[in-house]
Amino acid sequence: MKISVIGTGYVGLVTGGCLAQIGHEVLCTDNDASKIGILNDGGLPIYEPGLEKIIDQARRDRRLRFSANPADATQGDVIFICVGTPPLSNGDADLSAIDHVARTIATESTSPKLVVEKSTVPARTGEELKRALSVYGRKSNLKFRVASNPEFLREGTAVDDFLHPDRIVVGAEDEQTEKQMKDIYRPVLERSFTCPFHAPSACPADLQPSWIVTTINSAELIKHASNSFLALKISYANMVSDLAEALGADIKEVMQAVGLDPRIGSRFLNPGLGFGGFCLPKDLQAFVHLAERSGVDFTMLREVERVNKKRINRFIEKTRQALWVIKGKQVGVLGVAFKANTDDVRFSPAVDLIEHLLAEGARVCAYDPEAMERARAVLPQIEYKKSAYDAAEDSEALLIATEWDEFRKLDWDRIRDVMARPLIIDGRNLLSPAEIKAHGFEYYCFGRPNLATASWHENGVLSK
Ligand code: UGA
Repeated sequence: MKISVIGTGYVGLVTGGCLAQIGHEVLCTDNDASKIGILNDGGLPIYEPGLEKIIDQARRDRRLRFSANPADATQGDVIFICVGTPPLSNGDADLSAIDHVARTIATESTSPKLVVEKSTVPARTGEELKRALSVYGRKSNLKFRVASNPEFLREGTAVDDFLHPDRIVVGAEDEQTEKQMKDIYRPVLERSFTCPFHAPSACPADLQPSWIVTTINSAELIKHASNSFLALKISYANMVSDLAEALGADIKEVMQAVGLDPRIGSRFLNPGLGFGGFCLPKDLQAFVHLAERSGVDFTMLREVERVNKKRINRFIEKTRQALWVIKGKQVGVLGVAFKANTDDVRFSPAVDLIEHLLAEGARVCAYDPEAMERARAVLPQIEYKKSAYDAAEDSEALLIATEWDEFRKLDWDRIRDVMARPLIIDGRNLLSPAEIKAHGFEYYCFGRPNLATASWHENGVLSK
């Protein structure tokens, strides 16, 4: 099928690349000519595991093209809208990019189109989208159908999530739309595509996705309700973590057992610095606003947001408790991305944390395996180091802000020896307290007893 994708951010590029991977002919457009320039030169404007491989392959097979003219998107029979819906200052989603795209599609199309909302939007946006298409397309008298197809991709595993989803949700209003959407996703539903992750016919059998067809309003609501529930789980885990800490319990043990109840589930119960990124915080806010405008009391979700905002203060409190005075001290920060396996720093708790440390007068050295280039644009005033070891050198504390796997397996003896003081404050509960203590560190974390003082031999050598 000839498909166009408007917007080449994380969602648009993954959607375009994966649709090409499963056999469609795809054109990705973006009005940011610099992004399209990078893509046309064989590069990628973002880091996302697995994406380079499938986009390179699709370029070679001539199934994927890029254009800086969004009007070119009207070459497709189906157009996926993947533009950003950032938060407005009042927390509502800014839908101006969707409105703009609707006008382009309506005025530039020369044949009927199926227009698919993939961007996260508040319920009833589909109704407005339909209205915009018909108002601005009135001269051509073409028929535009609209579908909602929310994405559930997680940055860092987005390609895998697209190709092996647990569910595909389609909000459609007629059988033709439903059928067309099923034809698009058939290779995923039947596993008939070449999988970049698994050997032929070795995609795990338990990953059979559910195909869910709903009204457009329901599909839009499903996305906001899902992300807000995930946020709720994290804030709940953070609250229980604070209590565990106060009572001398271990949050890992607690949540492991709580999560074994299939009604609860074990994922998204990791406490720490809280949730960030471009989706959970903004979707939560937009959902609360939508509910309040609709006359429904969503105070509970306001609390989720409040609990999350307090995580950074709690981390700073721990840092103060450990360092006594923060001002003037060098602090190493491991991780700037909002989570592991991405270079995305938007609404990153790590960035927020660094800003707080700078406000307290600390000197910050940071290291992140992928996100330093993007971090430099938002935090130019700190020093970026080439490795975790360089960030640790001469630092009085090493703060873990992102759950990168490589931070689990560092040479801790080497880190200890280069630090001005062997102190780790773990904002992601990444390390084992017993192990890190054995290497001679003071160790602070969330929801578990702190190991506040290292024991010293009389001659000043650390005991293990
Ligand atoms: C989220 C959803 O998980 C996706 O299903 C959805 O498609 C996407 O938003 C979206 O709307 O586009 P994402 O923002 O990529 O995906 O990241 P998550 O994996 O959800 O993590 C969000 C934040 O929560 C991160 O800062 C992460 O570190 C934090 N987190 C996650 C915790 O603090 N604890 C946990 O247990 C899990």
